Amino acid sequence: MTNDLDQLRDELLASIDVASDLAALETVRVGALGKKGTISQRMQGLGSLPPSDRKTFGQHLNLVKSSIAEAINAKRILLESAQLDAKLSDESIDVSLPVRPTELGRLHPITQTIDEAVAILGEMGFVVAEGPEIEDDFHNFTALNIPPEHPARQMHDTFYLPEKEDGSRPVLRTHTSPVQIRTLEAVKPPLRVIAPGRTYRCDSDMTHTPMFHQIEGLVIDKETHFGHLKGCLLNFLAAFFEVEELPLRFRPSFFPFTEPSAEADIGCSRDGGEIQIGGGEDWLEILGCGMVHNNVLSACGIDPDEYQGFAFGLGVERMAMLKYGIPDLRTFFDADLRWLKHHGFMPLETPSLVRGLS
Ligand code: PHE
Repeated sequence: MTNDLDQLRDELLASIDVASDLAALETVRVGALGKKGTISQRMQGLGSLPPSDRKTFGQHLNLVKSSIAEAINAKRILLESAQLDAKLSDESIDVSLPVRPTELGRLHPITQTIDEAVAILGEMGFVVAEGPEIEDDFHNFTALNIPPEHPARQMHDTFYLPEKEDGSRPVLRTHTSPVQIRTLEAVKPPLRVIAPGRTYRCDSDMTHTPMFHQIEGLVIDKETHFGHLKGCLLNFLAAFFEVEELPLRFRPSFFPFTEPSAEADIGCSRDGGEIQIGGGEDWLEILGCGMVHNNVLSACGIDPDEYQGFAFGLGVERMAMLKYGIPDLRTFFDADLRWLKHHGFMPLETPSLVRGLS
């Protein structure tokens, strides 16, 4: 009888051993320990044995039962961990595989142009500053030496927002120049910042969109002069347009917040209707600039006898159109996927002066 039990145990251990998955193991378990299992039935049979055999047989049966239960548990843990391993290796992702370029989105040329300008000017020591697109009158106008009745306010075709309780009217910023003010309020000179961002004017035709982008530049130090302004812009524009020699010309202009003020043109040719940046007979207006007006410095609590500097404002759409040969301004904001696929840029190729811009 005891031999018979040992034989049963060996058979069960053998079938536990060969069970190759959790389902097979479960079948073995039910066959042995389930209600009608081989071991359970023997347990039930204990009652019909003579009392003298019952004890030894019972003890032996219990030992067999627990060794089988233990073996099943150990095997279950083994199978479960093998199953997990298989699942993990099944679902693993090879991060070193190249992405499929055809399925990627594209960066908008505006984003690319800003990234390139930030890469170049960042290399020249500028840091990026930001300001709100909904501005107050003070930052967009007054502190920039444009007092309430100044005609320049009309020139700006301002979008006004509803009047606030205190009677003030927020505006959608008409240029990035208010970031000059916010920077001067927050940072002690010497400083070099650029502020790329959206700007708004109530104007819409072939060459104007109500929302467009600018990059503001501001340098304040003790001896910064117009020569620095010229050198800075010349270096930046040559790097941006990727030409060795870039003709650059300054024309006197007027901005209330700079004195003297200038507009800068770059040399180009228009042979056969196509614009080529660099040589040639023609000129293209590219930016506004000047030496920061004393009144602007004073409005920000900076002593104009101690500090001076320059500012410039670039039109991002214009730079993108010239560099990438995009003929129509309004297509920038059509959200046409075919256009974006054609004019857009690969998102993983961050522009840098060392690796190349585009
Ligand atoms: N804010 C001016 C504009 O939008 C550009 C500018 C910026 C001019 C900084 C001079 C200095 O037209």
